[in-house]
Amino acid sequence: MELSWWKRGTIYHLYVRSFADTDGDGVGDLPGVTARLDHLSWLGIDAIWLSPFYRSPQRDFGYDITDHTDVDPLFGTLADFDHLLAEAHRRGLRVILDLVPNHTSIDHPWFAASRASREDPRREWYIWRDPVDGDPPNNWRAVTGGSAWTLDERTGQYYLHSFLPEQPDLNWRHPEVRLAMHEVMRFWLERGVDGFRVDMVDYLLKDELFRDEPLDEHGRYEPALARYQLNQAGTLDLLRELREITDAYPGRVLIGEVEYRLPLPRLTGYYGHGDMLHLPINFWLLFIPWRAAELQAFITDYDRAVPEHAWPNWVLGSHDISRMATRLGPDHVRAALMLLLTLRGTPVLYYGDELGMTDVPVPACQARDPWEGRDPARTPMPWTSGPNAGFCPPEAHPWLPVGADHVHRNVTVQAADPRSTLTFTRALLDLRRTHCALSRGSYEPVPAPEGVLAYRRDHPDEDLLIVLNLTGSPVAVPFRGTPLLSTHEETAGPLRPHEGRVMEIMR
Ligand code: GLC
Repeated sequence: MELSWWKRGTIYHLYVRSFADTDGDGVGDLPGVTARLDHLSWLGIDAIWLSPFYRSPQRDFGYDITDHTDVDPLFGTLADFDHLLAEAHRRGLRVILDLVPNHTSIDHPWFAASRASREDPRREWYIWRDPVDGDPPNNWRAVTGGSAWTLDERTGQYYLHSFLPEQPDLNWRHPEVRLAMHEVMRFWLERGVDGFRVDMVDYLLKDELFRDEPLDEHGRYEPALARYQLNQAGTLDLLRELREITDAYPGRVLIGEVEYRLPLPRLTGYYGHGDMLHLPINFWLLFIPWRAAELQAFITDYDRAVPEHAWPNWVLGSHDISRMATRLGPDHVRAALMLLLTLRGTPVLYYGDELGMTDVPVPACQARDPWEGRDPARTPMPWTSGPNAGFCPPEAHPWLPVGADHVHRNVTVQAADPRSTLTFTRALLDLRRTHCALSRGSYEPVPAPEGVLAYRRDHPDEDLLIVLNLTGSPVAVPFRGTPLLSTHEETAGPLRPHEGRVMEIMR
């Protein structure tokens, strides 16, 4: 049976603000993405997931929306979006949008109405509570720090915000809120988008009794103990509704951002019985110690935990976390890319990781992110060795600094270099496309010398073996096979430090 595109393909996580700026305001835009589609086709990815480009005051860079069905002028127009979509589809590339259902911007007309008076019909669209003895209604904390409640003087009540005070949480227990968000989905599905990545799924519902979170043994708030602010029982029903809407349009995909370190039964619970998320994002590779034994154990457990009807997925970078090359160190980049692109399940590749981009230090005076620490992983894509790395016109000022290493680490230089990380990533994507064992074969862990991660991808037509030396020393491995691709140039002899190889095994 033919695999759905989102099982077969690789998704490219594209942070629109930082991809390509065509109008010279220093911020990437939709025409910039369109202009680079040929490059993405050349690279060999199958779908792009676009970070939010909707109307927004950009206090959380688009995750604070004032109009879910229009494009912010910063990024272009709705016509630019339609053009991008048509051009992507013409090249066989799918387009996935970010859907942000948990909260809006404080400037959204819904919230303006909601805060106007206690009697407003939109009041209950958000979560309002009375003060308790002059204090916030309970001890809930925002993910961004501080109380999750902000007092609105005019009506004397607090509103809830799981993130910034400028991002009030919608009340998903209110049927009109659900319907409004369903309409948003239909708006984009009708335009032809291929699916959604749903932001912060586990925050949608909160405890109906607004109970205080338990404190740790020192009497302090501990996010890991939080059980009332998120993950409420009815969330899965909400996802079923989102899935129904998605399924009314054939061939679309529903991906969901869930908590980072979810125990496997909870993570796989989000698949439902094939009636919730197609792909609850598996963030674990971002957190597991980069050692063969730990990786092998997790990958095997996860592979076995994903239900028969469901499909695994893998992520090595995101706009919220330090880049792969910085977290793991530059020596590990190629083997990590080989791992991401040869495991069983859909890989999500974060823009720039194909170049081995590192975090770019952002001086405090140029910091943009309202939560600390995320700017360095969001810096402009380096396209050339020229001014502003070709991200924006030479006279423009990029919204975040361009990495100093762009002079040699950029698309133009790497595309022309047969030994570059970009060329290597392209070869991996090509291998994944042309070898059915990589897209649909089973995953089998293989015992290997210490520090080496080895697994097979078996398929009735071919068996592949992947061996990754995660250590800094050469290792002789007892495996034989025809080498198909190496992270290094030569493919014979013992594995070099940090070398990975894909081999075909004779039966
Ligand atoms: C998600 C996004 C992040 C955003 C947050 C609040 O975690 O990935 O960038 O700040 O949601 O919407």
